[in-house]
Amino acid sequence: MDEQKGARMPARIISVINMKGGVGKSTTTVSLAETLAHHQRRRVLVIDLDPQTNASIMVAGPEKWNGMREAERTLDFYFESYIVQQKPKPFKQLIEKNVSDLKGKPDVALCASAPEFRIVERDMIESFVKRGFQIDMIQKWILERFANGIKNVINDYDYILIDCPPGISLFAEAALIAADTILVPSIPDYVSRLGLITFRKRALRLINERRGGPSQLMVLATKYEDGFSLHRSEAQLLKDNLGDAMFDVRIPQHVDIAKAAEWSETQRTFEQKYGQMASTVKKLGEEFQSKVELAPSL
Ligand SMILES: Nc1ncnc2c1ncn2[C@@H]1O[C@H](COP(=O)(O)OP(=O)(O)O)[C@@H](O)[C@H]1O
Ligand SMILES: [Mg+2]
Repeated sequence: MDEQKGARMPARIISVINMKGGVGKSTTTVSLAETLAHHQRRRVLVIDLDPQTNASIMVAGPEKWNGMREAERTLDFYFESYIVQQKPKPFKQLIEKNVSDLKGKPDVALCASAPEFRIVERDMIESFVKRGFQIDMIQKWILERFANGIKNVINDYDYILIDCPPGISLFAEAALIAADTILVPSIPDYVSRLGLITFRKRALRLINERRGGPSQLMVLATKYEDGFSLHRSEAQLLKDNLGDAMFDVRIPQHVDIAKAAEWSETQRTFEQKYGQMASTVKKLGEEFQSKVELAPSL
């Protein structure tokens, strides 16, 4: 891919999703964004769809994120402006560039979430239900508004990574349908594997019905403990089941991953930030790139 010269492709949309919380979705979103920008020199946008706002704070720090909230530049305002003023706020205005605390200003941008997003979602659904909309119409409405927003910035990035909330929500489903690639971080244990198989079936069916085109589903073992034989056997079972859709790289349960998630006021090198996990995160980016390049173009 000769992305430095000539026309660049529109961004590939990657939704990071799992029904379960605490499996490393936000951590994976941010570390993948940082290695793709830092090592692969890609332009990356992180969209935080989770009202818990972990990815927003991880990648931009509490101060910048607060500034974005105060300036009404978070996703809840975007959707609220559609409903209340019937006129959308330009999506581009939500985006804050060069947000990472890594040295060298890697090209990572953020479209942030806020806790109010939960209320906006609820109010939106209520107002639609009162007007007699069916759930699939509401779903379509959300997907269209979300896709319209993304369309405005799709040529500015190589990758758009969407950090999804856990559980079932209309926004998470919109992100699932909009995605070219679905990345599922999963802790390799028995319950998660069963959940994953069910999710995969449901996700693929939903996408086929609504999207009418292929998308790629990838699974990444997170919080992996090599000394734990159950993790080893479950990760192997996933690999046997999923083949190339499963990453060879596994993200270990490691304090340096948790520490990297804490915002640093002073900029740090990739190695300072990710410590002993720096090469693993770099490998994640490399394997991601090679998997994506093998995927059918959309
Ligand atoms: N590989 C890991 N090793 C150690 N701690 C991790 C790892 N991945 C995530 N964590 C920690 O686990 C918690 C949940 O991770 P997070 O990425 O927020 O999960 P999710 O987005 O799926 O809810 C966070 O405190 C995070 O720092
Ligand atoms: Mg999260």
